[in-house]
Amino acid sequence: MSRIDEGLERGTAFAFTLDGQKVEAYPGETIAAALLASGVRALRRTAKRQQPRSLYCGMGICWECLVTVDGAPSQRACMTEAKPGMRVETQKGVGR
Ligand code: FES
Repeated sequence: MSRIDEGLERGTAFAFTLDGQKVEAYPGETIAAALLASGVRALRRTAKRQQPRSLYCGMGICWECLVTVDGAPSQRACMTEAKPGMRVETQKGVGR
């Protein structure tokens, strides 16, 4: 998956990190949108079986997309705007 490029003004790209790896984002994008455009699918692992989970509803209802943002666990990637320098971590179980 990649971004739609034609007919859009995206602004200036910036970076945040996912598990220490740089991810490119544009102003107004959610963490989930930037991660999807970067090819990342698994956002968290379930507590018992460590099974990967990703976006499901994409609109803040299902809570499948939980990530840890700047040390705060259980943030919905689909509802959280990406910011420059943000430190995002894939979440294991319920987080810390
Ligand atoms: S994908 Fe459903 S809450 Fe984020």
